[in-house]
Amino acid sequence: MKPKMDILREKIEEGKLGGGLKRIEAQHKKGKLTARERVELLMDPGSFEEIGALVTHRTKEFGMEDQKFYGDGVITGYGTVNGRLVYVFAQDFTVFGGSLSETHAEKICRIMDMAMKAGAPMIGLNDSGGARIQEGVRSLGGYADIFYRNVQTSGVIPQISAIMGPCAGGAVYSPAMTDFTIMVENTSYMFVTGPNVVKTVTNEEVSSEELGGASTHSTKSGVTHLTALNDMDCINQVKKLLSYMPQNCEDVVVKYPYTLGDETREVLENIVPASANQPYDIRSVIEGICDTDSFFEIHKYYADNIVVGFARIAGRSIGIVANQPMSLAGVLDIESSKKGARFTRFCDCFNIPLLVLVDVPGFLPGTDQEWNGIITNGAKLLYALSEATVPRCTVITRKAYGGAYDVMNSKHIGADMNYAWPTAEIAVMGAKGASEIIFKNEIAAAEDPAKKLLEKEAEFAELFANPYTAAERGFIDEVIEPKETRKKLIKAFAMLENKVAKRPRKKHGNIPL
Ligand code: HXC
Repeated sequence: MKPKMDILREKIEEGKLGGGLKRIEAQHKKGKLTARERVELLMDPGSFEEIGALVTHRTKEFGMEDQKFYGDGVITGYGTVNGRLVYVFAQDFTVFGGSLSETHAEKICRIMDMAMKAGAPMIGLNDSGGARIQEGVRSLGGYADIFYRNVQTSGVIPQISAIMGPCAGGAVYSPAMTDFTIMVENTSYMFVTGPNVVKTVTNEEVSSEELGGASTHSTKSGVTHLTALNDMDCINQVKKLLSYMPQNCEDVVVKYPYTLGDETREVLENIVPASANQPYDIRSVIEGICDTDSFFEIHKYYADNIVVGFARIAGRSIGIVANQPMSLAGVLDIESSKKGARFTRFCDCFNIPLLVLVDVPGFLPGTDQEWNGIITNGAKLLYALSEATVPRCTVITRKAYGGAYDVMNSKHIGADMNYAWPTAEIAVMGAKGASEIIFKNEIAAAEDPAKKLLEKEAEFAELFANPYTAAERGFIDEVIEPKETRKKLIKAFAMLENKVAKRPRKKHGNIPL
């Protein structure tokens, strides 16, 4: 009997497995790898087991009976990534443009069902011209079968979508329902309707790249969480992402080995500037707190007034949600609330503890925000954090004003440990705004109103622009020196490791979408 790889090689040479050498060369010329190369790159060497390699389509119309390719445009199977079981599908653009036929969809559904049964992550490598035109409603049904499984699977096993070529029409909705999307720059795009339809309907002239390329979706729409320079970088990022996640919702993330040493971090002492209005990069606080080089930022270029991402603290995987004073003073607006809420919910689904870093002047005022629904969207973050049952720690580095104090993982909405640095200011609003309102008459009646305002500001700041009033009430567990933060958090997350939190029985909550 011939070895399996020889049979596969022969079929490739016959042009029957994959769309043949010419199309493979064309794929390479575009700077793309083939589906098989991508799978090989993703999986541990020798671990991939293909399922359904000899499946072909059943279409008779349009001369399709004479055009059959083994696998029917998608490679499916299972294997290991860094020793962990994962399931994968990789669409093969060399076969009918990776378009999705009824059998192609059946293959994807089969491994999604297997991943669900085995409780292992599902990874989709997408590169497809969408529904196979020759199959009509059968291919549309195939998409819907996948969508349905994306939803059943959501919150049970992690789902990651790599977009490594075209992704058009309804095909974008499967990735949209998975947990993370990574797009390869310049060779991938996602849109519901392409440039031609856009031109017909709205008369706008726009290129595919501008309409739905990686940079558009990483900055403007937030559809993609990550971007990659090329296919290899994309696969590496998929692997990195997986390293922070457990296998399924009943599992916990495997801890990296870590030996405790001196966990004091002097570098944290000098990050917050003396002036309350001076910006600083919250990433330097994150880096000071977390294990070296462990921070993996998600949605880096979207809504950058909030920073979210995975990291490790003493080897333990955590999710971080942090206001970013460098952008819009770290204010909460529509986009940043959505971004924070989505990430929080992923962490809560998969037992990843949350660290929330707070330096927030409040919610962004204005007609644009109000008319576009800052109320509903801000509520998403409040809802997501309130419902999260994973271990939750908070550190207030500077401002925690107004409703944003409540929202940003306050004790009142269920946080487990709340710390504040001595520089924290916890109040309804800043000293100037507050003084102008509550001492309005006194200031107006003063001989020198400007001087009076300054006096009142100082009085207010003395009373409220500090963490001690909150600590007296028990809303803050401890006021800590910045350099002690890592040490405190290592202990807190270890203490919370076996946290049990029960929620009232319900079908599901109704997050304000
Ligand atoms: C069948 C398809 C196909 C499709 C591409 N091909 N898309 N075959 N059904 N949907 C075939 C082409 O005929 C061609 O075959 C080969 O794949 C490569 O395609 P090219 O056009 O030569 O490649 P390229 O120039 O790179 O353009 C790629 C493309 C373009 C942008 C994806 O092919 C394209 O626009 N395709 C149609 C996209 C689309 O509208 N899909 C339907 C979306 S609606 P040969 O034999 O010449 O190599 C949808 C509904 C889903 O998906 C609904 C779910 C709810």
